[in-house]
Amino acid sequence: MLITGRQEKQIFEQARDERWAIGAFNAFDLNSLEAIMQAAEELGVPALVQTWDFYNPEKPNMSEFAAKVFIKQIIDRAAASPVPVILHLDHTPTFGGCMRGVRNGWNSVMIDASAKSLEENIALSAKVVEAAHPCDVLVEGEIGHVAGNSGLDTIYTDVDDAVAYVKGSGVDLCAVSIGTVHGFYATEPKLNYDRIAELREAIDIPLVMHGGSGLTEEQFKKSIANGIVKINFATYVQIAGGKAIADAVAGQERPMFNNVVKAGQNAARDFIKMHMQIFGTRPVSL
Ligand code: 13P
Repeated sequence: MLITGRQEKQIFEQARDERWAIGAFNAFDLNSLEAIMQAAEELGVPALVQTWDFYNPEKPNMSEFAAKVFIKQIIDRAAASPVPVILHLDHTPTFGGCMRGVRNGWNSVMIDASAKSLEENIALSAKVVEAAHPCDVLVEGEIGHVAGNSGLDTIYTDVDDAVAYVKGSGVDLCAVSIGTVHGFYATEPKLNYDRIAELREAIDIPLVMHGGSGLTEEQFKKSIANGIVKINFATYVQIAGGKAIADAVAGQERPMFNNVVKAGQNAARDFIKMHMQIFGTRPVSL
């Protein structure tokens, strides 16, 4: 079922109070969307479908026509589901991009101004919050930049900066830098569980981990126990699906498109399901 921003907030707050997390998985086509939806439906837990800003004319991920059709398909699929579905627009650097998400029916958007100064990050995030909240859309912001996989030493989110950011911007969810990176790890991740706990203590909104791929079950569980509530998880789901496709093709003289794609979808679904269970994601009543 499609839910409102207010109901989404309720789910995140329940997760934070009960110390479990929701995996945010990326959909880029109908098969990846099905993988997420089927995983959530089989477990009876909320689904969090995350997309990029497909429409962005400066950095198009698909044609405007394809994006419009896909967005409609996501919304129709979510509305027909028995489980609550959070539709989240990931990493959007501009006010206009976030507004595209609001207009297209997403119930939550991320303004990512984390590479800017604290003051600029607060100002831009506050502007998005001011426009999104009257439309009942939640806003995720980021403080302390979660890097790419450059292997550089992690700079952990500063607690005072996080307090100032959340107070000044009014965001509903806060992504923090606690030792993860996006994509593959060049060096071992050094997660700072104490910092997660300090941040949870200092700020009163759900904390988000980006760069979930490549962490162990124990690392996820300790992060959740210390206060992480939303876990963004993309690369390794693509690998799970991609490997299954490679296996389905291997040694086949006549690999069938439909069977091969289905194998990828099923493997992605099972991998997502396994992580929903690791994250302890629970059914909710709204
Ligand atoms: P991974 O691809 O490393 O799992 O990160 C996903 C992410 O953080 C999307 O915002």
